[in-house]
Amino acid sequence: MAETEPQAGELPARRVFVTRAIPAAGTDLLAAGGAQATVWSGSGDAPGPEELRAALASTDVLLSLLTEQIDANLLAAAPQLLGVANHAVGHDNVDLETATQLGIPVSNTPDVLTETTADLTWALLLGAGRRIVEADRFMRLGNYRLWGPQLLLGEDISPGGDGQRKTLGIIGFGRIGEAVARRARGFDMAVIAYHPSDPERVRASELARPVELSELLREADFVSLHIPLTTATRHLIAADELQAMKPTAVLVNTSRGAVVDEAALVVALREGQIAAAGLDVYEREPTMATGLAELPNTVLLPHVGSASRGTREAMAKIAATNALAMLRGNPAPQCINRAVYQSAAYARRASRLW
Ligand code: DGY
Repeated sequence: MAETEPQAGELPARRVFVTRAIPAAGTDLLAAGGAQATVWSGSGDAPGPEELRAALASTDVLLSLLTEQIDANLLAAAPQLLGVANHAVGHDNVDLETATQLGIPVSNTPDVLTETTADLTWALLLGAGRRIVEADRFMRLGNYRLWGPQLLLGEDISPGGDGQRKTLGIIGFGRIGEAVARRARGFDMAVIAYHPSDPERVRASELARPVELSELLREADFVSLHIPLTTATRHLIAADELQAMKPTAVLVNTSRGAVVDEAALVVALREGQIAAAGLDVYEREPTMATGLAELPNTVLLPHVGSASRGTREAMAKIAATNALAMLRGNPAPQCINRAVYQSAAYARRASRLW
């Protein structure tokens, strides 16, 4: 493996296919690093499977967005591919198992979006809990004729008039879950967390008390999801789990839509099994389950958890840095299947670089 980095213009492999436009900070970095970046410019909103297959077959590295499904068939059709640099921290859009088997490194963009996503989680929590969007609509429709003590009553976040501390239940206590918990201190909330992949992580933290999922659902006034989408977490929150929550509870999801059974959520919200939901992600983006958009007790956002100017630029730079490392045969700094570099399958792919 090359120890010293080639100078710009000396890359043995150069072609990077970017599946849709990313902030210029990323494409500028690719160009400065000597890569030939092609940004998809076909018709429609995004490249279709056939366009992706053709692009993958003739590129050295793929820089993908979370909207593109990089599945086993696509990966198998690209024997020359040196890596997939995903422009997201989540990577459920990439078949990681197949990529690893085929010797393809995959990277993501962690850390830089942690605080931005935690901020948005709180915007949803506050917005859904205090009915901000509903109240805004009420104003715009000219419905505010007379103040009243029962007007648009929501849920307390800090201890309210009843003096009761509210409980925030965090499902998935990784970097973002932890950042959400840190903010809860300012609202004097009790925080409980369920982190199935590593319960020790919660135990080691002073920010939350570890609990099982059933206790979290029973106890929490606000439930916030920060768990990656895997086969084990698909529909983690379905009809039974929604029924187990308090009727005053608010559900917030800034992780992946399919962690929640969205049709069951519509029923739970409609029937008052829970009070409200704040959603940034959906099971079948960009569409929503039938009935969701008509429910007043929802705040619905178009997957903008990490959408601040600074964070999206940083994500683009990280994805580009990973892509350049892949082109050079160096380990990508944010590689998520690092063992791949020891595999014979990777050595075969990368042999043309050395
Ligand atoms: C991610 O990175 O996974 C978010 O969903 C989008 O930034």
